[in-house]
Amino acid sequence: MRRVDVRRYVTPLREGGSLPAVVEADDLGLYVLKFRGAGQGVRALMAEIICARLAGALGLALPEVVLAELDAELARTEPDPEIQDLIRASAGPNVALDYLPGAINFDPAADHVSSDFASRLVWFDTLVSNVDRTARNTNLLVWQGQPWLIDHGACLTFHHAWNGAVADPGKPFAPIADHVLLPGATALAQVDGPLAERLTPAVLQAALAAVPDSFLVQAAGQGAATLAEPALHRQAYVQYFQARLADRRRWVQGAIDARG
Ligand SMILES: Nc1ncnc2c1ncn2[C@@H]1O[C@H](COP(=O)(O)OP(=O)(O)O)[C@@H](O)[C@H]1O
Ligand SMILES: [Mg+2]
Repeated sequence: MRRVDVRRYVTPLREGGSLPAVVEADDLGLYVLKFRGAGQGVRALMAEIICARLAGALGLALPEVVLAELDAELARTEPDPEIQDLIRASAGPNVALDYLPGAINFDPAADHVSSDFASRLVWFDTLVSNVDRTARNTNLLVWQGQPWLIDHGACLTFHHAWNGAVADPGKPFAPIADHVLLPGATALAQVDGPLAERLTPAVLQAALAAVPDSFLVQAAGQGAATLAEPALHRQAYVQYFQARLADRRRWVQGAIDARG
């Protein structure tokens, strides 16, 4: 994964709880920075990386995700104490998304998407247990005339307080009932096979390879001795996804039933 150094804190994005910020990096690009020291913890950053890779493999559009190195010194020029604390707690590697200039939030009442796109997005969000794609909070941006996915920090609900075990991987994802595009997702049964085929073991392994060792070690340190070794930790995720894909009939049917 590409790495950048953060040079300047530009402005906070006060929409969600995690207080992401627009920052400028050493390549003069603007990025939306997701702080490792935010309350959601390092697993939220891991979810951003893993889900971005999987979504990309499925042909869904999303901003480039990079590792962004943050210097605690940046806190000194920042007047807001809450932001100072966040910067200090996040010194080192963080996750950043390429900033899409002029993008607007997707409006379900005004913006229309194809049933193919709606179906592929609902399938993906059911796979990764995404609770954050509701009508009130779509985490979809419209940019250059098409929808772009953002904000996967709350996905992978299974991995919080996780010991690496794979329990009931085919479990239907009940919150999909509140997905903003569920009503238009009329082709779930048709997209299922072609999407699942794209998530080969090599694709899953590459998604986990993008996660830095330091994130895996920090996450394992928050309570999972069995995952202390990064290679085993990555393998546990790959096994989870393989088991969920193998048993996908149940969760795909769950999403189909939620539409009805
Ligand atoms: N890559 C991006 N380009 C442009 N705007 C973005 C981008 N990522 C996020 N935003 C804006 O910032 C808001 C908050 O970012 P988000 O990733 O959803 O974090 P959270 O919901 O945790 O606060 C989004 O709703 C969107 O308006
Ligand atoms: Mg959000």
